[in-house]
Amino acid sequence: MQDELLRQSQRGLPEERPRPERLRTDCPVLLSERLVLRAPHEKDIDALAHLANNPNVATMVSRMPHPYTVNDAADFVRRAKQGGIGKCVYAITKAETGHFLGCCGIEPIDEQTVEIGYWLGEPHWNQGYMTEAAHVLIDMVFRTRDIERIDARCRVMNIGSRRVIQKCGFQFQGSAMFPALAMGGPVAVEWFRLDRKTWISLRSWGGMR
Ligand SMILES: CC(C)(COP(=O)(O)OP(=O)(O)OC[C@H]1O[C@@H](n2cnc3c(N)ncnc32)[C@H](O)[C@@H]1OP(=O)(O)O)[C@@H](O)C(=O)NCCC(=O)NCCS
Repeated sequence: MQDELLRQSQRGLPEERPRPERLRTDCPVLLSERLVLRAPHEKDIDALAHLANNPNVATMVSRMPHPYTVNDAADFVRRAKQGGIGKCVYAITKAETGHFLGCCGIEPIDEQTVEIGYWLGEPHWNQGYMTEAAHVLIDMVFRTRDIERIDARCRVMNIGSRRVIQKCGFQFQGSAMFPALAMGGPVAVEWFRLDRKTWISLRSWGGMR
């Protein structure tokens, strides 16, 4: 117990680590200036199928089939509802209209690490939405989970995603080959990491916009 208190006090102030639990399963609705991130539901299926059925999206993520059908979208929503320990899947929607823009989520890698993943429909690119969504997602992860780091990966040629990763304060770790379903085999990816200490020092996100 004392060891645990000492460990927590060394890691940060209590208000920075409210009741962290490594294996939390809840995925709270997240709000940002322009966005609401919430669980995907059946009403998203048509928009999801439409926006995901795009090679410019599918070839940039690791596990999206292409072509992407309404059945794929329905299956995705069903699996997202099943959840999993430490995992969250979010629909990214516009706060003003409720329109579905894309998805993001986190998945545990090991006891101390989760990985972030995301995509937006092409009509919604380059308006700062993904950076805004990633900031609230990252804040939620570090505030509610007792983990030390978040990983992110992107294809070496994915300039937009690398920029999002940089604007969230991730640091380059290395490159490797990684399987991409829509590419039918491994592709060159870069691997980035944001650790808790860096997040605390950046958490106003003031310099990262
Ligand atoms: C990657 C992706 C999520 C980015 O979402 P987004 O909402 O467009 O991202 P943002 O607008 O927050 O930031 C994108 C940044 O990349 C920059 N960018 C995008 N394409 C660029 C290009 N070809 N050259 C230079 N900069 C580029 C934008 O200018 C912006 O940077 P800035 O704010 O400094 O100007 C979106 O493009 C996407 O879904 N792509 C397909 C799927 C994908 O790649 N998912 C990620 C897998 S790792």
